Amino acid sequence: MGASHIPEQIIDDIIGRIDIVELIAGYIPLKRAGRNFKALCPFHHEKTPSFMVSADKQIFHCFGCQESGNAISFLIKYERLEFREAVEQLAKKAGVVIPAAPSADSGAEALKTQLYAVMELAAQFYENYLRSPKGAAAREYLHQRGISEETAGLFRLGFAPDAWDELLSALRAKNVSLSVLEKAGLVLAKSNGGFYDRFRNRIIFTITDVKARPIGFGARVLDASLPKYLNSPETPVYAKGKLLFGMPAAKDAIRDSDAVIIVEGYLDCIVPHQYGVRNVVASSGTALTEDQVRLLKRYTTNVVMVYDPDDAGIMAMLRALDIFVEHEMHVKVVQLPTGHDPDMFVRAFGAEAFKNKIATASSLIDYKLAVLTAKYNAREIEGKAKIIAEVLPTVKKCKNAIVRSEYLKRIAVGVQVEERALMEELARIKVGAPLVAPTVRQAVNQAVTLHPTEKLLISLLLSETQLIDTVKDRLSPSDFSDERLNRVVTILFGLLEQGKRIDARAMLSECDDAEMRRLICESAFLAEATFEEKERIVVDCVQRLKHKSLLTRRSNLLDQIRAAQEHRDEDGLRNLIREFDGLIRKRQGVHD
Ligand code: UTP
Ligand code: MN
Repeated sequence: MGASHIPEQIIDDIIGRIDIVELIAGYIPLKRAGRNFKALCPFHHEKTPSFMVSADKQIFHCFGCQESGNAISFLIKYERLEFREAVEQLAKKAGVVIPAAPSADSGAEALKTQLYAVMELAAQFYENYLRSPKGAAAREYLHQRGISEETAGLFRLGFAPDAWDELLSALRAKNVSLSVLEKAGLVLAKSNGGFYDRFRNRIIFTITDVKARPIGFGARVLDASLPKYLNSPETPVYAKGKLLFGMPAAKDAIRDSDAVIIVEGYLDCIVPHQYGVRNVVASSGTALTEDQVRLLKRYTTNVVMVYDPDDAGIMAMLRALDIFVEHEMHVKVVQLPTGHDPDMFVRAFGAEAFKNKIATASSLIDYKLAVLTAKYNAREIEGKAKIIAEVLPTVKKCKNAIVRSEYLKRIAVGVQVEERALMEELARIKVGAPLVAPTVRQAVNQAVTLHPTEKLLISLLLSETQLIDTVKDRLSPSDFSDERLNRVVTILFGLLEQGKRIDARAMLSECDDAEMRRLICESAFLAEATFEEKERIVVDCVQRLKHKSLLTRRSNLLDQIRAAQEHRDEDGLRNLIREFDGLIRKRQGVHD
């Protein structure tokens, strides 16, 4: 994350002078719980508090939605600030003066130019490798997923060699410095010196800016192993929240049709495009940001969202809907049949069927009402009140009085209340309260990608730091298959070597990967959790695990169903569909 030129020591100084308990207590009521404080999490909907604040460690963590961090992260999340804005706000509180950023930073500009150049070289390297003899398995994979060579070329798909330093050597041979390669996020430092390629044996999706310059990569495994995707880190030229995947290929079509379709995955963007639906971009599984909405608004004000109909997808959509409404965009929502993403849907039913879904998309307010009426009982007074309380903030965000009154009409009919009552309630609502957790989708996506044993080990080491002595001679960072965990261990050992104290605070200031920060905060709280707290966490974990394994079985079954359809195996198909139905019913059970 670009600290926008605020020196590290100044940030440390500010954090040192702020009390996170006092800060958070200014926003939500905190209750003392042993050495920590507890609250209902402001970032997701819950009935029992799983949001913890530690005065000793000056961090917060929610065991429900996994949001976590320090005072700065809290402000960014709660007030929806940029990093720099949050630091500035805290500086004011702390009475610290931030030195003005040096203007016209020519060094930074020069680095950007180098980064654009090296990312272009890397994109070419991966593309060429895909076409080379060693790219055969990757080409076969793309073929199986129905992607033509032309489409692969258009989206600049590639393949990363199954080796440790092929990209590294190829770009070194072109005189790219190690430092630039590392800053571009293409290579990682080994603990014992030297570097290695970040992406290995993976299909490469080239992420470009609006001008079609490569600025990052998404890299997918060829099989079912985890993590499914590795992504480039943020760099001075790659800010994830500022772009949408597929924009260069989609922008003319977006203008021409005066509408944009937003999907979640790379392939959900690419496959419909190949089938002729070209005004599609992907949010890449992260929460939509205001910057992205502003970007889209340059081309159109009509948006159709097609997300997975699972809990995380619904949350992501509802959150995005509010941002769109705030920016006076017209939003519609498409619900695909359970188990289908746009990629599968288009291949199974064709482009016309997909276009038909888009054309008959339901309006934002109808969609939100449908979600809420499924959640609460609209026939009971309490249910009505809850539905109205959750839908009105969206209406409030809408600046256009005519649209607002249209929304109210729909709600009045949908929930069976008088419009006048709705208007009164609307007048009483404050603006700006967070509605749903912005990053739940990310949490769900990422939490499953780490190897459980590795994660558990790190978590134990972080919660009982004396244990580090027990293993440090037997364990090396490279024993971890996940680069991020590998990095955490490197940091741990580094602090140890320098004779520094190992605690959550020190770790956090060294680590900028969001999920690792989450792991660190979680472990810090686990170290001193009571039995009841641990019990709740275990229950939460079990539920998440169950959910995940159901999803896997669901997708396996869908593959089998497709195969049975192809082979016209009627009996098999009937059995499979019965099993699939059972699974869906079970899944709803897990969610309650
Ligand atoms: P999905 O899990 O829906 O994957 O994640 P997908 O794109 O449909 O991929 P296939 O069809 O299984 O091949 C949606 C998006 O979330 C991000 C990626 O951008 C992905 O396209 N994601 C997902 C990650 O960044 N990391 C992950 O481990 C998983
Ligand atoms: Mn998919």
